[in-house]
Amino acid sequence: MRHLITLADITPEEFAWLLKLSMKFKYPHKHLDLPKTVEEYIEVLRDKYVALIFEKPSTRTRVSLEVAIRELHANPIYLNWNELQLGRGEPIRDTVIVLSRYVDCIVARVKSHETLVEMTRYSRIPIVNALSDRFHPLQAIADMMTIMEKKNRLKGVNIAFIGDGGSNVAHSLILASTLVGANINIACPMQYKPLPEVLKAAENFSKLTGSKVRILEDPLEAVRNVDVVYTDVFVSMGFEHERDIRLRTFIPKYRVTRELIENAHEDVIFMHCLPARRGEEVTREVIDDPSISVVFDQAENRLYTAKAVLIFVMTPSSSLFG
Ligand code: CP
Ligand code: NVA
Repeated sequence: MRHLITLADITPEEFAWLLKLSMKFKYPHKHLDLPKTVEEYIEVLRDKYVALIFEKPSTRTRVSLEVAIRELHANPIYLNWNELQLGRGEPIRDTVIVLSRYVDCIVARVKSHETLVEMTRYSRIPIVNALSDRFHPLQAIADMMTIMEKKNRLKGVNIAFIGDGGSNVAHSLILASTLVGANINIACPMQYKPLPEVLKAAENFSKLTGSKVRILEDPLEAVRNVDVVYTDVFVSMGFEHERDIRLRTFIPKYRVTRELIENAHEDVIFMHCLPARRGEEVTREVIDDPSISVVFDQAENRLYTAKAVLIFVMTPSSSLFG
């Protein structure tokens, strides 16, 4: 039994396994060198119950998980935070202890990452992060799968993330990039840098995989010759009270425009976790240009990676690789 609340807790080998299994779900006939068949792996989910607790809105995460769970012959139970006693103040501890007695896995989207940490303290079943203020691991796994599909490799791929370097999506993208040996430039205002603990974990992965991470202020320098340009909203869920100051800080310099993209490699792809705010972090001509934008393939891949993650947390580590 294991949790997945941040990619900092997994190894490059486990991450590679997650990508392979995800690919196998999308391309069943592809040879991917997995120790077991998909049918053998999915047995861990059969007839199980997975609680999906959402404290914030979601389209992709919720629906991809519900479909993934049903396709793995398990049963999703969607629970809106405010309709649970949690919304009236029941402690997380009590909720998790009780749910552990009914269901087999909890996937939770929460306002504060501490809520997930608290859940792992008391849970007898796996806890999966479906987004917190600090991390979005499910997104970053799908992001790496998408880059693999489009570029046929991950090691040595150059990625630029432009915008809020302290966002959940940026944090998980940094960790995922360094887990696979990709290089990542983050261009952000200095007051919106990634958390030091994330950079520390990324540094440790880089020692194993050879990735390079650079934090820059200048988006132009960050995108020069890169293979992937990625952005996320400037105002994440929970930061609406900072909307005015954030838009004033980010829009003039960090919006992804055609002019910015022209400084990247000629085969550059544009990525965004979605939902996007056209005209804020990215212009329409970039995100809606099918010759560079892969945002819908990225969203589709959430389905295959969701399946792989559920199997990952439900499979004893000892039988993952054989
Ligand atoms: N990218 C993503 O997590 O989307 P949702 O908020 O719609 O789940
Ligand atoms: N950073 C965004 C991601 C949404 C999927 C947010 O937290 O709102």
